Amino acid sequence: MSVKIAASLMCADLTRLAEQVACLEEAGVDLLHFDLMDGGFVPNLALGPGFLRCLRPLTRLPFEAHLMVEQPEVLLSSLAEAGCDRVIVHLEACPLLHRTLQEVHRLGMEAGVALNPATPVDGLLYVLDHVEVVLLMTVDPGFAGQPFVPAVIPKIEAVSNFLRERGRAVDIEVDGSVNERTIPLLVARGANVLVGGSTGLFTGEDFRITVRRMREAALGKG
Ligand code: DX5
Ligand code: ZN
Repeated sequence: MSVKIAASLMCADLTRLAEQVACLEEAGVDLLHFDLMDGGFVPNLALGPGFLRCLRPLTRLPFEAHLMVEQPEVLLSSLAEAGCDRVIVHLEACPLLHRTLQEVHRLGMEAGVALNPATPVDGLLYVLDHVEVVLLMTVDPGFAGQPFVPAVIPKIEAVSNFLRERGRAVDIEVDGSVNERTIPLLVARGANVLVGGSTGLFTGEDFRITVRRMREAALGKG
C-alpha cells in the first residue's frame, strides 16, 4: 500500500484557510483530516460539520472527520450532508460500535475506528470487517504538539499482522507527533496514512518542503 498524507486542518492558519487548503492540494497531500472535539471526550473544542461544509467547494481532496466526541452518532448525518467522505469514531466512545459503523456506511461514507494509546487492540479485532481504516493515536487526543507515545509502535504491528492474516486491505492511520523522526518507525510497522500536524506538516515552512520531507521519511530517506 502506498503512503498517504492527511493534513490536520486544526493545525492550519485559520486566518487564511482557503489559501492554506489550495497550497496543501498543490503540495500533494492526499486528504484533509478534520478533528472534531466536544470538550467532553477530550478537554478541548475544535471544528464541526459547518467547517467541512464551507471548505467542500474549494477542493477536490477527500475529507475525513476524526470524531473525538462522546456521542459521535449525533453528528453523522450532518457530516454526510457536509460532503464528508470518511468518518472515524473512537472505540472508547462507542458502546454500540457495530451499529455506529453501519450507520456511517448507510449514509454513504467510509468508516473507521480510532484507539487511544492506552486502549488495547483486542476490541478492534471484532470490527475489522466493517471498517476501511483503523486510526492508532500516537498521542492522547485533544491537542497538537504533544510528545510521541512509543508504546503504540507494537500495536501498529499487531493490527498489521492481523489484517495480513485475514487478507483485508484496511488503511492503518497514525495521528499525533507524526514527523520525520517518527515516520520511519511507523511505516516500518505497517502504517500507511500519516496525519500531518504541527510537528510534521504545519511547521511554518512551505508545504511543498514539509510534504516532501514526510514522503522521504516514509521511504527511509529521512
Ligand atoms: C491530536 C490531533 C492531531 C494533531 C496531531 O488530537 O488529532 O490531528 O494535529 O499533530 P501534531 O502532534 O504533530 O501536532
Ligand atoms: Zn486527528
